[in-house]
Amino acid sequence: MAALRYAGLDDTDSEDELPPGWEERTTKDGWVYYANHTEEKTQWEHPKTGKRKRVAGDLPYGWEQETDENGQVFFVDHINKRTTYLDPRLAFTVDDNPTKPTTRQRYDGSTTAMEILQGRDFTGKVVLVTGANSGIGFETAKSFALHGAHVILACRNMSRASEAVSRILEEWHKAKVEAMTLDLAVLRSVQHFAEAFKAKNVPLHILVCNAGTFALPWSLTKDGLETTFQVNHLGHFYLVQLLQDVLCRSAPARVIVVSSESHRFTDINDSSGKLDLSRLSLSSSDYWAMLAYNRSKLCNILFSNELHRLLSPRGVTSNALHPGNMMFSAIHRNSWVYKLLFTLARPFTKSMALGCHPVSHHQKNGCTSSVAEPGGQAPWTGSAAEWR
Ligand SMILES: NC(=O)c1ccc[n+]([C@@H]2O[C@H](COP(=O)([O-])OP(=O)(O)OC[C@H]3O[C@@H](n4cnc5c(N)ncnc54)[C@H](OP(=O)(O)O)[C@@H]3O)[C@@H](O)[C@H]2O)c1
Repeated sequence: MAALRYAGLDDTDSEDELPPGWEERTTKDGWVYYANHTEEKTQWEHPKTGKRKRVAGDLPYGWEQETDENGQVFFVDHINKRTTYLDPRLAFTVDDNPTKPTTRQRYDGSTTAMEILQGRDFTGKVVLVTGANSGIGFETAKSFALHGAHVILACRNMSRASEAVSRILEEWHKAKVEAMTLDLAVLRSVQHFAEAFKAKNVPLHILVCNAGTFALPWSLTKDGLETTFQVNHLGHFYLVQLLQDVLCRSAPARVIVVSSESHRFTDINDSSGKLDLSRLSLSSSDYWAMLAYNRSKLCNILFSNELHRLLSPRGVTSNALHPGNMMFSAIHRNSWVYKLLFTLARPFTKSMALGCHPVSHHQKNGCTSSVAEPGGQAPWTGSAAEWR
């Protein structure tokens, strides 16, 4: 026992108790590390147990995480009007199991986007979400904004977009959110949007191509193309072409295309297996709304895959996803039949918060995550800074 005490590992009530001279701290991303003030060194492993840890859960109510001029994280307790460098969540750490469960085991269909992003800090990241005034797009925009990202809601209707911005600000008054006009059914609008975005001179780390329309009666856009095809696919295709240089300059960056499982129920090849372009923008005589939607969603996936092939060597990756089936958003607004079907299915389908989980999940596991797991040396930030 004396030897243990001499080595600074004296008998304590808790195996987690630190030997004298050691201090427990957290990184911006919630990893716990240990500073030895005698030897002026840091390490990720607990000096007694050898375990690595992370903080669990959110900050207590009224607390906020900030970064000082030296890049060191500190915490503001707004209720008691105090500031500290000690993370209050250190009371509730969890072991970082070296044999981590796979992503599939960690998250499932009942995980919300907020749960996926929990503990992530997107400060400094710029996220653009199309069709962000409602449904999956809104939940996606909100989740990123509440995690510190600068989020741009690209919407065709400015009053609906402004209302969505206000709803996010009601949740967190410091959220960095703004709305810009983008009508995917008008190629000129896409072009104007891209110009306006570039004029802001900001990077683009995450582009979520989410806007979509479903069960529309046949119509042509001003550009002379079938509307579902243009809104769901071609408008996004054009938008990505126009913003490609910004994405590459912002690398690592990511495009996320919200597709649908219904892409399975169609193809765009003719009977001889050759690509049949006439199947994309259908004429009124060949038009069936469900078929047009399915094809546009197939285009989403083919586009995302090809984009990934072309741009991933330049640090821009792309993924397409299926958010879930028959989720009760505004997507059915064009047809009373689908409205009825979606209403009947509602008790058995995902909520919007669950529906946007795949979007945040793709992002979190993507190259643009600002979160680094501890690999190198834990940071040394000098002697322990207490309440200030
Ligand atoms: N809900 C589901 O079950 C489901 C299943 C699989 C895939 N998805 C996909 O998920 C995505 C989001 O759908 P959601 O369910 O969240 O539906 P939603 O609530 O209707 O959202 C669609 C968004 O797209 C916008 N939009 C429509 N036309 C546009 C245009 N011309 N230009 C710009 N924005 C336009 C809408 O704006 P307005 O409000 O102005 O119309 C709205 O913000 C879609 O791509 C959809 O295909 C949904």
